[in-house]
Amino acid sequence: MNPIRHVAIIMDGNGRWGINKGKSRNFGHKQGLKTVEKIIKESLKKRIRYLTLYAFSTENWKRPKREIKYLFSLLNNFLSNKIKELDKEKIKFIVIGKKKFDKKLNKLLDYSEKLTSNNKRLQINLALNYGSKSEIMSAIKLIKKKKLLLNEKNITNNLYTKNIPDPDILIRTGNRKRLSNFLLWQLAYSEIFFEKKLWPDFNENDYYKILMSFKKTKRNFGKI
Ligand code: IPE
Ligand code: IPE
Ligand code: MG
Repeated sequence: MNPIRHVAIIMDGNGRWGINKGKSRNFGHKQGLKTVEKIIKESLKKRIRYLTLYAFSTENWKRPKREIKYLFSLLNNFLSNKIKELDKEKIKFIVIGKKKFDKKLNKLLDYSEKLTSNNKRLQINLALNYGSKSEIMSAIKLIKKKKLLLNEKNITNNLYTKNIPDPDILIRTGNRKRLSNFLLWQLAYSEIFFEKKLWPDFNENDYYKILMSFKKTKRNFGKI
């Protein structure tokens, strides 16, 4: 049985869910946040050590301003209301991505990271303004700046995900089979699960089934 240390999730399908319900895309984003809470709870139960959630890509800036504004206001409210609770649950929170937002959100993100920095039960990596290509480029620039050798180990150690083991599992909801610039380096040997359900419809049971199926998968890493 494979141990599960790290689960990464592309939480896709909120907009379509909202529209399918005869409401707005933003309504779907609001509902999607409920799934986030469910999956965090289930991850604690299953003693997962790392959970990486793709919340906003570097390409998502191409969306309408109204939608972007709404997504960040959801994040703002979520962290303001819940970070103390997450801390009580011994959850460590970090952002992976370029942390360049408005002053208020930057402050809240820094505060949340600092508050939870010593927690060791579950680490949530929130991929925010995240793009894998830009992450790899910035790692290479850091290597140059530090005058290190350009090799695999040094690239790994200069990514946003340094000190985090590679994901064992990648889940993408929303019936699209693509990576959308997510963790291209780190997913080299992850087991990938594409889920038809839209993110707001995804639940603990779906998550549990994926974890169980992963446990039974034979991982080769090139060997036989
Ligand atoms: C959520 O799903 C992903 C985010 C960028 C927050 P989408 O907003 O991409 O929903 P769909 O894929 O358009 O349905
Ligand atoms: C990926 O979803 C990004 C997040 C889930 C945050 P998108 O909906 O942005 O991906 P594409 O554009 O359909 O590939
Ligand atoms: Mg989408």
